[in-house]
Amino acid sequence: MEKVNITKQLDYMQKVKELNKDRDYAYYILTMGCQLNENDSEKICGMLEEMNYKRTENMQDADLVIFNTCCVRENAEEKLFGKLGEVKRLKEEKGTIIAIGGCMMQEKHIVEKIKKSYKYDVIFGTHTLHKFPQDLYKAIIEQKRIDDIIDIDGEIIEGLPIKRNDNIRASVTIMNGCNNFCSYCIVPYVRGRERSRDANDILEEIKELADKGYKEITLLGQNVNSYMVVEKSKNEVSGIDSFAKLLKEVNKVEGIEKIRFISPHPKDFTDDVIEAISTCKKVSKLIHLPLQSGSTEILKVMNRKYTKEQYLNLVDKMKERIPDVKFSTDIIVGFPGETEEDFEDTLNVVRKVGFEQVFMFIYSRRVGTPADKMENQVPEEIKHKRFDRLKELYEMQMAQNNKKYIGTIQNILVEGYSKNNENMLTGRTDSNKVVVFNGEDSLIGKFIDVEIISEHMWYLKGERK
Ligand code: SAH
Ligand code: SF4
Ligand code: F3S
Repeated sequence: MEKVNITKQLDYMQKVKELNKDRDYAYYILTMGCQLNENDSEKICGMLEEMNYKRTENMQDADLVIFNTCCVRENAEEKLFGKLGEVKRLKEEKGTIIAIGGCMMQEKHIVEKIKKSYKYDVIFGTHTLHKFPQDLYKAIIEQKRIDDIIDIDGEIIEGLPIKRNDNIRASVTIMNGCNNFCSYCIVPYVRGRERSRDANDILEEIKELADKGYKEITLLGQNVNSYMVVEKSKNEVSGIDSFAKLLKEVNKVEGIEKIRFISPHPKDFTDDVIEAISTCKKVSKLIHLPLQSGSTEILKVMNRKYTKEQYLNLVDKMKERIPDVKFSTDIIVGFPGETEEDFEDTLNVVRKVGFEQVFMFIYSRRVGTPADKMENQVPEEIKHKRFDRLKELYEMQMAQNNKKYIGTIQNILVEGYSKNNENMLTGRTDSNKVVVFNGEDSLIGKFIDVEIISEHMWYLKGERK
């Protein structure tokens, strides 16, 4: 796939920098979505820092406010409208520049609502993120609103500056878009079709991160295990042409000691990927395997392309082939037509697999998706009751599971001081459990062994070995 030339944008960054040379300028960014959205924000921050903006955590102090939006569920949308109300006053008082970007901006009805009722300077979408310097420049110079949203099948942008949130763990997007069209999900409509980054670009980015001292990499994509599938079908790929091969290459990068990835799709979990996970030492043995529902009937209407049995067989196969494998998952409750029996199926799968982590969501109707048009929507009250029952089961399982950790030695990557207790260090096990323990500064960024001495629902307490 042809890469987009960003030279023009680099020029615009210089132009904005020139405009901003009289004093220090501050930006505030709010990221509302998933890790891909977060990774996009890191690129926005990278561009802004090139343009002489410094980050502030306080919206009131900012000359420029950016909202990087999400629309996967209704609550993400509501949050934006609240924030736009708040920032309106700042604009009136001191002329704060407002830029709104991200997935929600790819939804026509939302953009219309914003245009009609809210104040802003720039709107940019998921396909025009790299044009932000140009859009910002125009908004400043021409003193008018810039709407820069396009609906395309997808492009690959390389070479944007990036300012990362962390200096130990980093996310690397390996593919964009989604071709799956699960019937509840808005993502394929707002992120476009699947396209994979060239493995050489990915590996170069990871090697650079390793050189800078990063230890853990999370490979990101809506469907990571269909990496290069589309490109392969078009004969556009030479070299590393599958997710399994990519994992093996990343595993060779010196300095990187832990590799995670989200999200794979159960339907694409081929044997070569299982083999790569089991043979690559650095690849985490916690696999995020989105279930969505445990009912074969519902899975079919969701367009997930696997049955309850196929999901469970896949889990069993991985348990056989990958020593110490553990699972986390995403579940939606209250999908249209979900009966009590369907929901029981979901609970049963949760009981059987024994997930390390369950991310639970109440089904949220998304305009433009097939599920939104289904007539058999589940009443809110039932959705909430089912959600609470799932939560109860999960928390009970988690408490039991946490007990298994007590007395074990866990190898953890020390991330820094705990937010809740500034005297304690914190890190995560391979299975992504938060561990807090006593220790000194010099341990930050290192892998160390700790013995788990107690469990506290959302974290474990450890002692250095
Ligand atoms: N591509 C990833 C996840 C994308 S969105 C995957 O397929 O796993 C993250 C999660 O949000 C999904 O796994 C799903 O559980 C949830 N989600 C997506 N659309 C939703 C909706 N309309 N209502 C509630 N939850 C939803
Ligand atoms: Fe959405 Fe399904 Fe694509 Fe995930 S795989 S982003 S849930 S359509
Ligand atoms: Fe992510 Fe939300 Fe977009 S989940 S891909 S930011 S709709």
